[in-house]
Amino acid sequence: MDYLEIVGGNKLSGSVNISGAKNAALPIIAATILSDKALTLKNLPNVVDIRTLLKLLTMLGGTVDHDKTIAKIDNSSITSTKAVYEIVSQMRASILVLGPLLARFGECEVSLPGGCAIGQRPIDLHLKALESMGAHIEIKGGYVRAEAKDGLKGAKIIFDKITVGGTENIVMAAALAHGTTSIINAAKEPEVVQLCEMIRDAGVKIEGIGTNELTIEGTCGKALEFKTIEIIPDRIEAGTYLCAGAITNSSITLQNVNHGHIRASIDKLESMGCSFDLKDNSITIYPTSNLKPVNLITIEYPGFPTDMQAQFMAVAVVSEGESLIEERLFENRFMHVSELNRLGADIWLKGSTAAIKGVEKLYGADVMATDLRASSALVLAALVAEGTTHVRRIYHLDRGYDDLEGKLSKLGANIVRKKEV
Ligand code: EPZ
Repeated sequence: MDYLEIVGGNKLSGSVNISGAKNAALPIIAATILSDKALTLKNLPNVVDIRTLLKLLTMLGGTVDHDKTIAKIDNSSITSTKAVYEIVSQMRASILVLGPLLARFGECEVSLPGGCAIGQRPIDLHLKALESMGAHIEIKGGYVRAEAKDGLKGAKIIFDKITVGGTENIVMAAALAHGTTSIINAAKEPEVVQLCEMIRDAGVKIEGIGTNELTIEGTCGKALEFKTIEIIPDRIEAGTYLCAGAITNSSITLQNVNHGHIRASIDKLESMGCSFDLKDNSITIYPTSNLKPVNLITIEYPGFPTDMQAQFMAVAVVSEGESLIEERLFENRFMHVSELNRLGADIWLKGSTAAIKGVEKLYGADVMATDLRASSALVLAALVAEGTTHVRRIYHLDRGYDDLEGKLSKLGANIVRKKEV
């Protein structure tokens, strides 16, 4: 297995190009199942999760011509509607093919996604909503078998909790349904917005895009035709690099950023003493040598994103004073705490809240990545730890960060990928 060797202490400088958003690309790739015409996706991030979902499309019978950031997809040739365990178990977001497969073909079998390190991550809300649209759902042998022989019907859906994946699955299912679907308490993350815009631009009437209430008028089973889609910039990757500038007290510039999508992260770094220069699609961070502590509560967009929680914890570790971070979305998203403490951090957990006492210095050590965003937090801490840090199990990182070590080393970090012998 690969690991990253990082020698801390280097300042960063220069600019970094932000890749397309993994969490926008995944539902958009799933949505291509709603079409029987070829289409092109651009600005895809070059990460494992994207390759995994494109592989699933080919396993279903679709044709995919994928070259790093561009994919030409044609799902007119789909012959199977079974998303098998070996793919879904690699990436739980494969569950996003459930809605489109059911909507286009009237039946499908999708392996139940496992939980993951950060939580149990059930899909009960997805299934309940599909049943209210007339689907017959059965869970057997680790698979969700869904059937809607006469097609899905428009329905009024109220989500008990805001769910990004649940909203995306139902928006895709509703696009081909017979009648109108309203989704109340819908997610409105930028990635959900881009998915809705893609479906609207294919001729489906959608009201309320960007709000917590969506109304979708289905095409009664008629497949869609999509234009070429350019994936939006990855707001979490962007936030991660802003944290890299903050933690190393370096001024760096991010290119290809939608700073409207990262207001919460900018706001919190400003409260810690950083300042920013925002241009059309770039942002420069001006850090401070004495970072103030921060209090964070993770909540749905546009609040502070749970996917930035671990990275901000790393920055808080070297700030001056005590920070409090409350994780409200996932029940187990503090796996990075014990690893950060191995680097010399002083973090205590009480239920869903972490108390972080800023420390003078961190010291390099061997640490282990446990999930995607925790891995990036360990890399950030290693950038300022004295000595050498080895971050192991970085297959987690490769799922969602496009060439993290290459981009950081171009900024001046002392970081190399090595192979475990
Ligand atoms: C998406 O996951 C993202 N993944 C996650 O990013 C992100 O952390 C999460 O949204 C929250 O913003 C992708 O977009 C591929 P949810 P998703 O359904 O859709 C509970 C990353 O690091 N819930 O909004 O799975 C659930 O357990 C990843 O890139 C139910 O109870 O998240 C969680 O507590 C990690 N029942 C909360 O809702 C359901 O049926 C939010 O989950 C569905 C969800």
